[in-house]
This record gives sequence, C-alpha cells and structure tokens, in this order.
Amino acid sequence: MIKTKVKASRNYTVITGRRLIGRTGKLIEEIRPFAKKILIVSESRVAPLYLARVKASCMKAGFEVYAYVFEAGERSKNIDTIAGMWSAMAQEGFTRTDLIVALGGGVCGDMAGFAASTFLRGIDFIQIPTSLLAMVDASIGGKTGIDLPEGKNQVGAFWQPSLVIEDISCLDTLPDEVFIEGMAEVIKYAFIMDIPLYKLLRENSITALRSDPALLEKMVGMCVKDKAYVIQNDEHDNGLRQTLNYGHTVGHVIEKNSNFSLPHGVCVAKGMGIMINACEKNSTLSSEDAMNMKDLIRAYNLPVDDDITPEQAVAGAMNDKKKRGSILSVILVNKIGHSQIKKMTHKEYLEFLR
Ligand SMILES: NC(=O)c1ccc[n+]([C@@H]2O[C@H](COP(=O)([O-])OP(=O)(O)OC[C@H]3O[C@@H](n4cnc5c(N)ncnc54)[C@H](O)[C@@H]3O)[C@@H](O)[C@H]2O)c1
Ligand SMILES: [Zn+2]
Repeated sequence: MIKTKVKASRNYTVITGRRLIGRTGKLIEEIRPFAKKILIVSESRVAPLYLARVKASCMKAGFEVYAYVFEAGERSKNIDTIAGMWSAMAQEGFTRTDLIVALGGGVCGDMAGFAASTFLRGIDFIQIPTSLLAMVDASIGGKTGIDLPEGKNQVGAFWQPSLVIEDISCLDTLPDEVFIEGMAEVIKYAFIMDIPLYKLLRENSITALRSDPALLEKMVGMCVKDKAYVIQNDEHDNGLRQTLNYGHTVGHVIEKNSNFSLPHGVCVAKGMGIMINACEKNSTLSSEDAMNMKDLIRAYNLPVDDDITPEQAVAGAMNDKKKRGSILSVILVNKIGHSQIKKMTHKEYLEFLR
C-alpha cells in the first residue's frame, strides 16, 4: 500500500493498494467521524461490480448510506445528472457534515466532485477511482465539472477531495482498450517529469502490468506522486500544471475533429507523437530520444501519428475566440523526463509544427 499526501487548499491522502474498497467505511470514519450520511455516486457499468461492497462497508462503519447511479458514459456528464444528485441529498436531509463518495471513472469523479462543491455551498467528497485514467489523473487535483453542448468541461469548480481510495484490484475488470487509454496519461508523466517511470515502462509491457498487481500498484503510485507534486506547486493551473497538457493541445483538436469518436487517450498519444516529431525537426529533441519515445508509445498499443495538417492543428487550437490573436502555451519535451512551457504566437506555432 502506498500513501501519498497532497498539500493543496485542502490537504488529503491518496491511498493506492489492493483490496481497499471493502475498507471504505473504516477509512472514511478515520477522517470524518462526525459524518452521518453518505451518498455514493456511481454509474451503470461500475455499480453492478463494486457498489454493494462499498455500500456494505460504509454501513458497517455506521453510516446511513444512499446511492445515486447514472448511466455510464461522457454523455451523462451534464447538469441533469448533477441535479439528480442535489435532489437525492436534499430529499434525504443531507447536512454540511455529510459526504459524497464517487465510485467510478473520471466522468463519475468529475461530476460527484462538482455536486459536492455546490451542494449547501460545498460538502466533502471522497474519490474511489475505478479506471486507470481516474487513478493516475482525474481523481487527484480537484478539477470538477460537467460538459455543455458547446464543449467539454465548460462548467466546474476547483474542489479538492478529502480522501482518494485507489483500489487497483478494480482495474481487473477494466476493458483492455480503456486500460490502454489510461496508459497514454501514464506515458505522459514519464515523458514530462519521471525518468524512473520511463524506465519501468520500458522494462515492462502491458501484459506484465495487467498480470502483476505489485507492478501495477507501483506504476500507479508513481503517477500519483507526480500529479501530487504538480498540484502542490500549482493547484489553480497557472503554470506547472499546464505541463500535464503535453500532447493535449494537438490531441484535443484531433479528438474534436473526430467528433469524439476517437478515445481521448488515443488522441493524446497521437498528439504526443506529433509534438515529438516537431521537436525533432526543430532540433530541440535528439533523434535518439524521439525514436525511444515513439517506440514506447507504440509498445503500449497506442498510435503516434495522424493525418491532421499543421494548419488544422493550429486552427483548432485557436478556435476558441478568447485565444484568437493571443499567445499559446505549448508544452515541449526536449529531453525525456523534462518539460518546458513555451509561449508561441499562432504563427510561431504553425512554423514549429511544419
Ligand atoms: N478532473 C480532472 O483533472 C480530469 C483529468 C482527466 C480527465 N478527466 C475527465 O475524466 C473523464 C474520462 O475518464 P475515464 O476515462 O475514467 O472515463 P469513464 O468514467 O467514462 O470510464 C471509462 C469507461 O470505463 C468504465 N469503467 C470504469 N471503471 C471500470 C472498472 N473498474 N471496470 C469496468 N469498467 C469500468 C466506465 O463505465 C466507462 O465505460 C472525462 O470526462 C474527462 O474530462 C478529468
Ligand atoms: Zn488527458
């Protein structure tokens, strides 16, 4: 079991280990002994697998437990689902000392966190991430929110969880393609800031990770430490936290242009591949590093290229009206394990990608 402390506007612990969900009730009791009621928010794919265990554990610890289960998928990430959570809590007379528990992937965590940040002007919430992406990224750092028809994550709040319980045993049921998507974010940490993680990924394989819980726990723990470090130094996304966008500026455009038919992780991998090529062409990254980086992405069954043109990539990044004419923060990796934020005008960015 690995415990990582996150120091932010609210301090909390991320516990990464095996067979933890059965201990949820006890773990919550330790940090919030005065809470009475818990709303477990989950979704239609995860709830049948894990809700009963989490619920039983919380009841055993003496909490009054309610559940709110929405339909799995990004399409549920909207205000109607949030309103359902608000009503469920209001109807059961939740007070400011009661809690929300998010049991699911990033969609569930982002929404449960947003409901917690707004209900009674803010109640505590606990993350139990069940997807790899949610364990290494979404459940830590307090970005919560929902999508609008106009765009993803357009409404939200910074609201840190009070505890994150990462039971890597839950990854056993995660479909391969969803696991691989999460690996794109893991590889991202390795490239931007973590040479030991880079080595671990090179020395192992997707099969090894999926069949060796101790190795998986170690890998997830390393990512958690990376994310915690970033949050500690830039909770509100004004500097360092932007480095987590490596591969995402181009990746988001590819994702949007595919009408969201391509998974996020696949687009991020493509985005990283394009940035690697651009850095190599501009002689800021050695050919050896470039080759090794692309080999690693491919080794985890992710793509490294796309037929998006530099013009399309730049137009997409500039599409947001607010950004038009202004400066872009482009995240570069010029050496494995080190990242840099480079301000570029749209013309410079275009030159860079060409
Ligand atoms: N808050 C942040 O900092 C942050 C960071 C990155 C991404 N996000 C958000 O996270 C979301 C993506 O997260 P995600 O990839 O976890 O999506 P998700 O929550 O939709 O989960 C992916 C799929 O895996 C299924 N699933 C989850 N856990 C499972 C398990 N243990 N067993 C079987 N199936 C399981 C889900 O039902 C879903 O079909 C996006 O909405 C994105 O905006 C937030
Ligand atoms: Zn991402």
